Amino acid sequence: MTPTERDHFLAALETRHLANLTRPEFTRAVRALSVRYVERRGQLPTRSPLDSAGKRAAFGLFYAPLHLLTVDAAVRAVTTAAPPTRIIDLGCGTGVCGAAWAMAGSDPRASIDGYDLHPWALEEARWNWQTLGLTGRPVRLDAVAAMERTVKGRGSLSGTGIVAGWAVNELEAPGRARLLETVAAAVSRGASFLLVEPLARGAAPWWDDWARALHRQGAVAGDHKFAVDLPARLAEFSDAAGFSNRTLGARVLWVPAP
Ligand SMILES: C[S@@+](CC[C@H](N)C(=O)[O-])C[C@H]1O[C@@H](n2cnc3c(N)ncnc32)[C@H](O)[C@@H]1O
Repeated sequence: MTPTERDHFLAALETRHLANLTRPEFTRAVRALSVRYVERRGQLPTRSPLDSAGKRAAFGLFYAPLHLLTVDAAVRAVTTAAPPTRIIDLGCGTGVCGAAWAMAGSDPRASIDGYDLHPWALEEARWNWQTLGLTGRPVRLDAVAAMERTVKGRGSLSGTGIVAGWAVNELEAPGRARLLETVAAAVSRGASFLLVEPLARGAAPWWDDWARALHRQGAVAGDHKFAVDLPARLAEFSDAAGFSNRTLGARVLWVPAP
């Protein structure tokens, strides 16, 4: 992703999401969404945090670009192969994780199949991919079912990259266990896998189990703080909402294709 692509995207997002909100309303929504993801994390599997227009705007205009920049930095830091030609984005939300990985490649960039259950998020993913000039297909389907379908086919998955950003922690334990099995099966068939979760230990208590399970397939896991110069508008939103962070933190697990 070039700085120009990034800046055009941020400007387009701002026009889209601030059309019907004042800045104070937007700032309050950023804080409210953060509370849902941090303090009320336990409710995520049963209660969507995107239940108001303000929180959806906060997700689309603040968290989506932060995740885009974090995955962009993670791809540079940990991936050890050329970008894939096809990306499966699990719990794609606004589609930014798949987008960041696709944009690490040169033309033709990877196409993206994004799976999520939330209709607003899927529409947002469609708009984001189109705005970024990417080819993406948003599909309303459970991420675990999507992976089960993927590994049911017999063909090679070489050239396929699977990304799951800030999403696996929202699954209930049985679904997460099934997802791990299907990811391992997909890697043995030629796929690579990129998993991104918050740094907070409590957000992904299953993390070490996944790292151990995928270790023999070459998994490398670590905590990262990427020193990124936040674009001015994102820094302003962050300051207004009272966040002091100037680094983008994430736990990242990378499994290269065999
Ligand atoms: C915190 S958001 C992250 C979205 C996006 N990956 C990003 O990094 O911005 C988590 C997403 O996972 C989705 N999700 C939760 N459970 C899911 C499931 N079982 N199948 C598919 N998507 C799911 C939610 O709808 C939400 O869009």
